[in-house]
Amino acid sequence: MTGRTRSGRLQGLGARVLASIGRQEWLDRPSYRLEHLLSFAYNGLGGARNGVTNALHGVWLGHPVHPPLASLTSGSLGTTVALDALSLLPGQRLTEVRNASRFAGRALGVGILASVGSAVTGVTDWQHTHEADRRVGLVHGLVNLAATALYAQSWWDRRRGRHYRGIALTALGYGITVAGSYLGGALVFESGIGIDRAGERLRTTEWTPVLSADSLNGKPVRVEVDGVGLVVCRTGPDEVAAFGALCPHLAAPMADGWVDRGRLVCPWHGSWFSADSGEVLRGPSAAPLPCYEARLVDGTVEVRGEAASAVGGATGIRKGGAK
Ligand code: FES
Repeated sequence: MTGRTRSGRLQGLGARVLASIGRQEWLDRPSYRLEHLLSFAYNGLGGARNGVTNALHGVWLGHPVHPPLASLTSGSLGTTVALDALSLLPGQRLTEVRNASRFAGRALGVGILASVGSAVTGVTDWQHTHEADRRVGLVHGLVNLAATALYAQSWWDRRRGRHYRGIALTALGYGITVAGSYLGGALVFESGIGIDRAGERLRTTEWTPVLSADSLNGKPVRVEVDGVGLVVCRTGPDEVAAFGALCPHLAAPMADGWVDRGRLVCPWHGSWFSADSGEVLRGPSAAPLPCYEARLVDGTVEVRGEAASAVGGATGIRKGGAK
């Protein structure tokens, strides 16, 4: 059997596992119950709700917080496994074994804390997924929950002097974490969960007429410039603004959204974007909505794109008034 064939078989196995989990519709019932529980808990925070959920989604970072926390989790736990292995090597002095065990315990503690943070941020992002992605996400979460329970038991065993049992539980948990990571990676790489889905940016720096201002009736209107989708909307009696046509969260068509009190609202999961700059005011989107310069010239809306150095974020005031 060639290496290429083995690799192909492995990929085929992974694809079959993912497809199989994605077909398990019976998971939808507990999923929606969990989602309702989360909504109830977050709504119970009252005025602090948006601040808390924005922090968990990663609005402050412009990027989901879950992936870096998941990396910290697996890094700390990988370190624990390596130090455990070191402590088991034959021919070492007692002090070396004790040092390796002590640092392994500390790395395990960091891994457990990171794992809890990873779970809280992950489930907050997960509640806005759908269908097969939601099922895979639920299994990913449950697998990691099982691993975290093993790590917690391992930590307890180590404190009680049951050192070998603690080592075995961490190793078992780490194997489960690696399997769970495959599911999490598939959600990112195959389904695009957690990446910026706003699509191609408009780069032309020439003012381009796109439509008559009379066509703007309070709803964002989709236009295309150089093959790039935009939405244009009125933000004041003589003010217009232009944004990317797709929400950075899961690519909802922003033309189906609406303008409300100085913010553009995503039609799918209700992210709020500043009508001045595209900045996220409320998640789940962590990335800003691409925002372009727009102006009114003799009743026509004109737009232009970002300079190459400004691509990738909301960069200053982009809306314009009549000329
Ligand atoms: S697609 Fe989810 S908030 Fe826009």
